[in-house]
Amino acid sequence: MSWLRRPLASLRSLVQPRRSSAPGSPLARRSSTSSISAFMPEATALAGVRDYPALRQFSLQQAERFWGALARERLCWISPFTTVSDCDLALGNIRWFEGGRLNVSVNCIDRHVHTCPDRVALIWERDEPGSQVRITYRQLLEMTCRVANTLKRQGVRKGDRVTIYMPASPIAVASMLACTRIGAVHTVVFAGFSAEALAGRIQDAQAETVITTNQAVRGGRIIELKKTVDQAVKMCSSVKHVLVAKRTENEVPMSNIDIPLEEEMMKEEAFCDPVAMESEDLLFLLYTSGSTGKPKGLVHTQAGYLLYATVTHRYVFDYHDGDVFGCVADIGWITGHSYVVYGPLCNGGTTVLFESTPVYPNPGRYWEMVERLKINQFYGAPTAIRLLLKYGDAWVKSHDRSSLKVLGTVGEPINSEAWDWYYRVVGESKCPVMDTWWQTETGGICIAPHPATREAEIVPAMAMRPFFGINPVLMDDQGRKLMGNNISGALCIAQPWPGMARTIYNDHDRFVNTYYKPYPNHFFTGDGAYRSEKGYYQITGRLDDVINISGHRLATAEIEGAVNLHRVVAESAAIGCAHEIKGEASYVFIVLKDGIDIAEHIITEELKHIVSQKIAKYAVPDYVQIVKRLPKTRSGKIMRRVLRKIVEQKLDELGDLTTLDDHTAVQEIVAGVQGDPKE
Ligand code: WTA
Repeated sequence: MSWLRRPLASLRSLVQPRRSSAPGSPLARRSSTSSISAFMPEATALAGVRDYPALRQFSLQQAERFWGALARERLCWISPFTTVSDCDLALGNIRWFEGGRLNVSVNCIDRHVHTCPDRVALIWERDEPGSQVRITYRQLLEMTCRVANTLKRQGVRKGDRVTIYMPASPIAVASMLACTRIGAVHTVVFAGFSAEALAGRIQDAQAETVITTNQAVRGGRIIELKKTVDQAVKMCSSVKHVLVAKRTENEVPMSNIDIPLEEEMMKEEAFCDPVAMESEDLLFLLYTSGSTGKPKGLVHTQAGYLLYATVTHRYVFDYHDGDVFGCVADIGWITGHSYVVYGPLCNGGTTVLFESTPVYPNPGRYWEMVERLKINQFYGAPTAIRLLLKYGDAWVKSHDRSSLKVLGTVGEPINSEAWDWYYRVVGESKCPVMDTWWQTETGGICIAPHPATREAEIVPAMAMRPFFGINPVLMDDQGRKLMGNNISGALCIAQPWPGMARTIYNDHDRFVNTYYKPYPNHFFTGDGAYRSEKGYYQITGRLDDVINISGHRLATAEIEGAVNLHRVVAESAAIGCAHEIKGEASYVFIVLKDGIDIAEHIITEELKHIVSQKIAKYAVPDYVQIVKRLPKTRSGKIMRRVLRKIVEQKLDELGDLTTLDDHTAVQEIVAGVQGDPKE
């Protein structure tokens, strides 16, 4: 493959058809149902296997050959890699495809411009139904290059961090890809985060450039995005310029560091030479909650991440050329990175950018969109499914969903009722439902029902089978590997894979301590899991102090940090409790400072305000209870386990209370617990 070794200068001509995706090629014709030999041809040829389990075995036992073949075939390299992997899980050192150089934007755009320039890359499903905008690969390249040239003109160089605070839109995707084109490191911050949360992330990344929009539009309402950025930037001395794209025609105040993005872009050339990046150069940082109050900037690098997002996108969803892929996640989360942007685009796909909400203008929005855009794969969050199921079947059935082939969920456990409704009503019992388990840390889907033969069993509400190259193990409390089936334990992954995070930005020690120290030589996910009689996996929830509200991770310590800022709060403890729609809600216990008397409903409102100011709206507590004291151990540690059981009204499961300092604390709290938290 001589094109693999071409120098950078010939990159424009390097964007050749991929053998694997040209229409009519074996891969385009393959069916995950029929013959394994047409499936992942390069790997099956190497492995000489006849079925999925055998290919899975091969991917684990001969991981270097498996991933090496896929990387050579699926990615477009400027210079070839010399080693497939070099990983030491004990030290958290993970390196893939070293020696190789590539450019992510070339992989996601240029090579498709060469083969199918007028194929639609993005369908921007704007807030107002029916006002969608289609962007072809050719247009996406031009847009990306113009943003890249604008960034360069502002002095952004390889390795510099750029914070993107924008809703899903073509210009946001072009901004991400523009960073990759010039080797800058993007860090997308969910546009629902508050000014303070945004500022914290900008400061940690030491970003000099922020890209945003004047306003955002969601659910028929205008959101003053630029105002939030203005407040954040006041707290960030690193920021030198803010590029402002126009989502609406409304004028917003501009200061001397603000640059109108579209105006500047149009002055720039429509081509920008891509920078050759080393496989292990930083691609992006994405902040996520850990078990402390400080979010961590997980680092993903170029080749391994891109390959893993691409391959999982194609095989978990059985994505074929020409399909319209509808992942409704926001680009501010890892799901948006891997399955709105990088996976679909690297596969030359057509991907939907969803700007609205599941209930705007009515609860039929998703299915009306499916009908109008002819979406083939729909990927969403259980929380939205639970919400929509409450509105009844008519909103679904009034729309033609015959284009749908595969349904997916992600981000949190899906309960059987929601799974069943999604499968039976939305998919008319014709589309397999992928309950996909993965994390910001894993880069892409690790456990999902497919790929497998179409006849293979899918147990409702189970993530089921590990993806190729993923080796899940369950551990007991003593750090021993649990063998056999019908067993639960801490979910770890025993072997490295290309998509895994490489470090926490500027804090490798925290990375090692969080993920690699708890179970030496294993990646610890922080989740618990159950392995069924038949060896299928089901995720049972977090094992640390992270809660999952509507699929969004949040540390209880972050909520407590915000709550404790209130002038009357002496101390607090936040826990997660079951919530019918959101999956989990936060329940906060507070102890007031001496001599303070305040009504619970007043303090509740004030605390909601503080949390939304310090973190985001989705983080506000649903319940606040004033207590005289918190249950603590004699050494002063809050016993959250006890609080959880009290809220769940499982008083007979309080467990060992011998370390409890003051038993009256528990009795007082039991007496004051609010309503039925499940409602
Ligand atoms: C949870 C989202 C149950 C889990 C891609 C994980 C899930 C955290 C599932 C990661 C699932 C994700 N079933 N729980 N199918 N998928 N989770 O980093 O607790 O935002 O650790 O990544 O979400 O959240 P993150």
